[in-house]
Amino acid sequence: MSAFEFDGTTVAGPEEALALAVAQALRGIRGANPLVGAIITASDGRVLASGYHRGRGTAHAEVEALAGFNGPNESTRINPADATLWITLEPCDHTGTTGPCTEAILASGIRRVRYAVADPTGPDGGGAARLRSAGLDVQQVDAGQVRRAGADDLNRRWTLARDSGRPFVTAHLAQSLDGRVAAADGTSQWITGPESRRHAHRVRSRVDAIIVGTGTVLADDPRLTARDEDGHDLPLQPVPVVQGRRAVPAGAALRGGASWLHVESHDPQVVLDQLTAGDPGHVLIEGGPTVLSAWMGAGLVDELFLYQAPLVLGSGPTGLDLPQLTTLPHALRLTLDAAENGAISRLGDDVLLHYAAP
Ligand SMILES: NC(=O)c1ccc[n+]([C@@H]2O[C@H](COP(=O)([O-])OP(=O)(O)OC[C@H]3O[C@@H](n4cnc5c(N)ncnc54)[C@H](OP(=O)(O)O)[C@@H]3O)[C@@H](O)[C@H]2O)c1
Repeated sequence: MSAFEFDGTTVAGPEEALALAVAQALRGIRGANPLVGAIITASDGRVLASGYHRGRGTAHAEVEALAGFNGPNESTRINPADATLWITLEPCDHTGTTGPCTEAILASGIRRVRYAVADPTGPDGGGAARLRSAGLDVQQVDAGQVRRAGADDLNRRWTLARDSGRPFVTAHLAQSLDGRVAAADGTSQWITGPESRRHAHRVRSRVDAIIVGTGTVLADDPRLTARDEDGHDLPLQPVPVVQGRRAVPAGAALRGGASWLHVESHDPQVVLDQLTAGDPGHVLIEGGPTVLSAWMGAGLVDELFLYQAPLVLGSGPTGLDLPQLTTLPHALRLTLDAAENGAISRLGDDVLLHYAAP
């Protein structure tokens, strides 16, 4: 029996095809690269293959879908000339950490390509023109259908970050039921359980840098390394960045790694200026509340992982403090983010809420 997840699934038209590609894209993780999903259909709408981008350095969505299309599933094998490739983002035509998708599409024999959003990396990045010049039927799907399928909104914050030439910014907040990140006496390890901490380490392992304030360094002396369940360092380690004017103690744990950075400023933009040479990448704000509030207040947080632990601390600092917001109409309103396993998940006794910034 075939294990192909879309066996028997058909799509009725462009909107349904794109909605399915969007659902694929949402299986990916947010960060340095956009979320992208792809499906391949037969002329009768049968779904033959699917793919999504799993993050920087991994195959692009259409390449993954093409691998499935060319794979061993005989029930979905058809003449490539009768297939259509649907992608949430225009295929790329450049060689980054992976080869150009245009080459993979040309090699596949598929002649019809439909995409939702033009490649934002400029005229050199977009592969539609390249594929058309090779004789393929390539079209951008009608804007209304793109919107209704949710493809236009998929990478809103990523595009904003990219347009500003800054990294994608993820924030981490672990709090009690009464919204506190530490007890009044400063104790804060461990508010959340082991499952939440494992998730937090996985997030650490995908970013280029982790930013904390001097307050967190002096209170908790964190290592800021990405570790596996056994406490061993994961292969990719972020650079610890300390924001604030006080000195970082000579024996601070975060100084034990290959490199670290101290930015003696309260201005998040100054931190960004020191981090954005070359690839803008992906950074994680791990707090504490003063630094997180500064980045939130400046509109510089793109996604937030909120780990909600089932305990009441009663007193102590809260995770966010934005005294400049004094009236409900000015409140920051975040939205639940369905990317990466959905917006709400249970991690042991904790609840993880995944938010996108407005
Ligand atoms: N539960 C969690 O998710 C979590 C995460 C991290 C920390 N914490 C807890 O948070 C507590 C520390 O809180 P915190 O607010 O002091 O930590 P913090 O935000 O890490 O550090 C605050 C310090 O950073 C400097 N700073 C950097 N940017 C600033 C800005 N824009 N405005 C003002 N100051 C800025 C200031 O020190 P200078 O005088 O040096 O400039 C400030 O006192 C600890 O108890 C820690 O355990 C909890």
